[in-house]
Amino acid sequence: MDRCAPILETRGLCREFRAGGEAVRVLRDLDLAIPRGSLTMLTGRSGSGKTTLLNLLGALDRPTSGQVRFDGLDIAGLSESRRDRLRRQRMGFVFQSIALVAAMTAYENVDFGLRVAGFDPRRRRDRAQEVLECVGLGKRMRHRTQELSGGEQQRVAIARAIAHRPPVVFADEPTAELDSRTGLQVVGLFRTLVEREGLTLVMTTHDPDMIDLADQVLSLDEGGTP
Ligand SMILES: Nc1ncnc2c1ncn2[C@@H]1O[C@H](COP(=O)(O)OP(=O)(O)OP(=O)(O)O)[C@@H](O)[C@H]1O
Ligand SMILES: [Mg+2]
Repeated sequence: MDRCAPILETRGLCREFRAGGEAVRVLRDLDLAIPRGSLTMLTGRSGSGKTTLLNLLGALDRPTSGQVRFDGLDIAGLSESRRDRLRRQRMGFVFQSIALVAAMTAYENVDFGLRVAGFDPRRRRDRAQEVLECVGLGKRMRHRTQELSGGEQQRVAIARAIAHRPPVVFADEPTAELDSRTGLQVVGLFRTLVEREGLTLVMTTHDPDMIDLADQVLSLDEGGTP
């Protein structure tokens, strides 16, 4: 594997949706490259296709045409089961509407993610504790989701997304429901993870204050031609 090659690339990427009998073209002929170990932010007005692009990069959706390459491999053409395995083992996801299991504690949520990823069972406990400490929740591990603030829940979601050491993490508006100070802390944490763990992070944001922390900003406003 060429360590200098981009971890993610698109070539001539197009995504159309059919709505009410009409084709809605969201992404048109998009060519982009996401460098390994970088923090990339996707911006653009509402409806410009940020979530659509994130879903294509994260193998949650398939393009109408064109390629999405992960480590040089065109993932659009893979079978559903290979894409599923790729997502579970080599990717992490943080969504805007926080997707934690409410009845579980912070620790159990992270441990659950490690199990789903097939992480070495003997090392699960240490790793879950380590990532919760890393996001500043070492003292909140035994709290259930509903006993945590919005920012704390978002940090549990980040801990879960990074725990299995995926090379790439996708975050769709991870700060949208946080106050600006907590939002900046979350993105500051992403920066640290990029520096310290060599993670590649791709996130969408509406917030101009976040942009300064990015290595690369891709705007989708011109019909998906950054
Ligand atoms: N499953 C779908 N079927 C039909 N149209 C869709 C579908 N998903 C997205 N779209 C359309 O594609 C366009 C882009 O949607 P997308 O969710 O990617 O925008 P976005 O940039 O993430 O917006 P926001 O900032 O509001 O989250 C929108 O016009 C939307 O209506
Ligand atoms: Mg969106």
